Amino acid sequence: MDTINWSDLSFGYMKTDYNVRSYFRDGKWSEPQLETSEFLNIHMAATCLHYGQEAFEGLKAFKGKDGKIRIFRMHENALRLQSSCRGILMAELPVERFEEMVVLAVEKNKRFVPPYESGASLYIRPLLIGTSAQVGVKPAHEYLFLILVTPVGPYFKEGFKPTPMVILRQYDRAAPLGTGIYKVGGNYAASLVAGEKAHEGGYSAVLYLDAKEKKYIDECGPANFFAIKNRTYITPESTSILPSITNKSLMQLAEDMGLKVERRHIPEEELATFEEAGACGTAAVISPILRIDDPDAGKSYAFCKDGKAGPISEQLYHKLRAIQYGDEPDTHGWVTIL
Ligand code: PLP
Ligand code: COI
Repeated sequence: MDTINWSDLSFGYMKTDYNVRSYFRDGKWSEPQLETSEFLNIHMAATCLHYGQEAFEGLKAFKGKDGKIRIFRMHENALRLQSSCRGILMAELPVERFEEMVVLAVEKNKRFVPPYESGASLYIRPLLIGTSAQVGVKPAHEYLFLILVTPVGPYFKEGFKPTPMVILRQYDRAAPLGTGIYKVGGNYAASLVAGEKAHEGGYSAVLYLDAKEKKYIDECGPANFFAIKNRTYITPESTSILPSITNKSLMQLAEDMGLKVERRHIPEEELATFEEAGACGTAAVISPILRIDDPDAGKSYAFCKDGKAGPISEQLYHKLRAIQYGDEPDTHGWVTIL
């Protein structure tokens, strides 16, 4: 514990003191239980293992200059988990239970919330899995909800430094009417091959095009895409991207800054007209995009020509972080202070 170098954390797993669990049996969720074991004992025919009945969430807690811990928008994560449950027929966890367990998980692992100066945070990973045995393709009738936490640094190792991304036309992440809008494990398994190819090519993430027409910008690796043009914040409208809570927050902050906000189809050619582009998400925060290559179409679109993030991305980044760390007032009621 004494040896954690808080300023040098990557986005990885580190053991903490406790995880919190609740079990759904006989139509009811059990009271939250604190656990020290990092392991689960589940049936080998559990539906999460065979048929991907699994959904997760990702949110963060931050330590402020005042020493207080702030959890960002957990209510939104609770609602999105419920949406994922409806998407793959799992028992829905009540919002209040989700929130209570997030607070408990953070409180019991307080000593792992990185100090303010480090710029790091405590990543909170709620997970809901089907646990009862089922060989036919049917939903489970028993579930486990658990929350683990781990201190993290930036998801993209460059942090706020712009990085290149790539369009790989041979791969889709999710179908237009599939599960892309839910935070379910299958979407991430489906993105692994393309993700590895991108990394091998020196790119930080894949920028997906819509799976049907291959014309419009869709999801951006484990994050949403946004762009800036003529003082307008533009982000894709799509039935296959995850509704990002960070993106929703940035849209609000952009509006507060007097920008116009557009959520609409973004044809690939429009990339050539953007002044700034970025990926946003809990893990990614804002990751400015340096360049987008589309090798199969022989195209490339450059942003941040001086290698630095654009001014609006920078302003949005600082504003968001200031609210999360408590440096600026939380005027939208996004933060839960412990
Ligand atoms: N898109 C995908 C595929 C993600 O995995 C994430 C991460 O949660 C996001 C977008 C960003 O969502 P949020 O801002 O709610 O973390
Ligand atoms: C997040 O941003 O919380 C994510 O879940 C992204 C990734 C680590 C899956």
